[in-house]
Amino acid sequence: MTQTLLDTDERPATLSGIAKAIHECRRCPIGFLDNQAVPGAGLKKAALMVVGEQPGDQEDLAGKPFVGPSGQLLDRYMVEAGIDRRQVYVTNAVKHFKFVWRGKRRLHQSPTSGEIDVCRFWLDGERAIVRPQLILALGTSAARGVLGKAATISKARGHPISLADGTEAWVTAHPSYLLRLKDEMKREQERLFRADLAAVAERLAELAG
Ligand code: URA
Repeated sequence: MTQTLLDTDERPATLSGIAKAIHECRRCPIGFLDNQAVPGAGLKKAALMVVGEQPGDQEDLAGKPFVGPSGQLLDRYMVEAGIDRRQVYVTNAVKHFKFVWRGKRRLHQSPTSGEIDVCRFWLDGERAIVRPQLILALGTSAARGVLGKAATISKARGHPISLADGTEAWVTAHPSYLLRLKDEMKREQERLFRADLAAVAERLAELAG
């Protein structure tokens, strides 16, 4: 039988190689659903890598990360913080959309910690190629993918976290969380999110010297 890339621990050394390989990935059950893998996108040598949870319905259809409502909200906050999305590499902790059918609609399902850990193989591959100075993890799934362990957003946000390879990680809430909130809670979480992005923008400017 012919050996494929996925029978080995070999990881492609280019982003296009990773994009191709994740389409074939069946390392966890999400890859067997009726979806397509969504590779990261953006600047190949970006100083900032933004990591989300997984593609949503719209991202799965478009084959691009963060193009739906969460992505549009993220774009607005990044503009406000002075972060240019064209200078950023955007990707996800999990490369396939996990969902269940509800009638004709595909409803998002959170990935398990095991699925996130399996998919870290690909996130680590992207990190090794892009070599960002900063990684911003959006939400608990992304934080697990980036940090390699569980994190609580309220404790992990607002300060840099040093990773083993010297990269600095920052953690904040997922924009979809802001979309679900109302009233005072929404205003408070928006304020925290804005502050987190401003801190990342400031740190990026410091690192750029
Ligand atoms: N939510 C994510 O975490 N990632 C996307 O790409 C879209 C929505």
